[in-house]
Amino acid sequence: MPTVVRDLMSAPAVTCEAGTSLAEVARTMRDAGIGSVIVTERGKVAGILTERDLLRAAAAATVASAESVELWMTANPDVLGPDEEVGAAWISLAHHNYRHLPVVDGHELVGVVSLRDLMGMARLRPADEHGTEIPAGLEGVVAAETELGDVRGEEGFFHYRRYSAVDLAARRSLEDVWYLLLEGELPDAGEARRFAADVAQRRALTPGLAEMLPEVAKQGSPFEVLRTAVSLLGAELGWRPTHDIDGAELRAQTLRLCSVVPTIMAAAYNLGEGRAPVEPRTDLSSAANYLWMVTGEEPTPLDARAVEQYQILTIDHGFNASTFTARVITSTGADLAAAVCGAIGALSGPLHGGAPSRALAMLDEIGSADQADSWLRGAVERGDRVMGFGHRVYKTDDPRSLFLRDVARFLGGPLVELAEKVERTAVDVLADMKPGRRLFTNVEFYAGVVMSTCGLPREMFTPTFAAGRVIGWSAHVIEQAAHNRLIRPSARYTGPSPPVPVPDP
Ligand code: ACO
Repeated sequence: MPTVVRDLMSAPAVTCEAGTSLAEVARTMRDAGIGSVIVTERGKVAGILTERDLLRAAAAATVASAESVELWMTANPDVLGPDEEVGAAWISLAHHNYRHLPVVDGHELVGVVSLRDLMGMARLRPADEHGTEIPAGLEGVVAAETELGDVRGEEGFFHYRRYSAVDLAARRSLEDVWYLLLEGELPDAGEARRFAADVAQRRALTPGLAEMLPEVAKQGSPFEVLRTAVSLLGAELGWRPTHDIDGAELRAQTLRLCSVVPTIMAAAYNLGEGRAPVEPRTDLSSAANYLWMVTGEEPTPLDARAVEQYQILTIDHGFNASTFTARVITSTGADLAAAVCGAIGALSGPLHGGAPSRALAMLDEIGSADQADSWLRGAVERGDRVMGFGHRVYKTDDPRSLFLRDVARFLGGPLVELAEKVERTAVDVLADMKPGRRLFTNVEFYAGVVMSTCGLPREMFTPTFAAGRVIGWSAHVIEQAAHNRLIRPSARYTGPSPPVPVPDP
């Protein structure tokens, strides 16, 4: 007998009426230890109010005792029948990014089912039973738990350890956010000073890297060099498998790694240009030192801050492909270098971190605003992706893109003007030619504009992304190692029916 929703649901569901205050519902949820309440009207389901709604209300500085549930609930939510197989429930929840759904029999509310209930089931079922149910590209599938942050695609909001990432970019330094990810709290002034000084001391290349980089840099781009160099670094420093070391040792390794990654890429860039690497300085912030090492000139505070803000905004972002890769590798107990080499490989792809230089190349090709419409229509007709547009999670404006557009505007210049016009045209063209897909700019569109305006060459766009993201990967490696379970999903075989006789040679 297949498992059906009735077998898993919590019953009876906790309910309230539409006029109940948010404060009362929050108390009910806390007392009952539940994440949602079903809102009923004359016994029928009228809506659902979840923890997420309470957070949204709190973020809007709502007075919880005065505001009614009705204003914050999701009205007329999707529902499940008690006799539906759990697979259908899984698809509804995962596909729409829901965490709870009411269960309704006829018109009667009989319970509520949560993603957590289904996750518990998923661990017990054999692969071929749920193989057909997982959305392509694992869209919406919750593959792990994390305390590092979250992305809410429908709201255009993301946070690091409960602080809006956009607010952090506006108000704090990269080092402060780095500390937040590692320690769980923002540093006070003394902690911030000590942490910034500590990581600045770890920027120099190791002797082995200093010797080998000139050879390696002859062979590829700075980002390709980084992939090799991280592997060399791990070997040179004798990094042992995460399986065999404790959290303190792993933390120290991540500090060394994240501090030296910008130095490696700047050295690779300069060597590739036929120049000697520029020594890192300890008196500059991470972003300012990075620009110093790449260009050989001390950056203006404005440029250094713009790059720093970009790196804060991209330090972490849910279970994106590179972070997922780092966690999968860590889940095998492999060492930090192995996890980060894999993540670098995932980030290099044009659908992930490889987009900003292509977005800028697109602006070059378009050349002037009056060409944008015909150029973009031609590209979409050919089936090309418009680089810097679309996102797996954001179905509204990417908040990173909005922030970077403001940064770009502040920096000014003809490229920024062209980019803004192309953005407007592209959003219209995509809405017209790909109706219903909700495609807007992602972080990469204005990233290239900002970095280029700050004097970074194109081959350093993805490296600059990686110089910040390595901090996020490291935090995920630490979290995965601390609560490890091997990540080992299944595949559904779709080839010809086995077994067939093996022909003689
Ligand atoms: N240009 C044109 N069409 C697009 C674009 C785009 N940029 N993005 C999505 N679409 C269309 C697809 O063609 C598809 O249409 P179809 O239903 O007719 O086939 C539909 O929208 C859905 O696309 P998917 O590929 O299923 O969406 P997914 O969630 O897998 O894609 C992705 C997300 C890979 C980012 C995609 O939007 C894309 O390729 N964008 C361009 C590359 C880019 O900017 N990457 C950087 C992402 S941000 C980051 O990684 C840091």
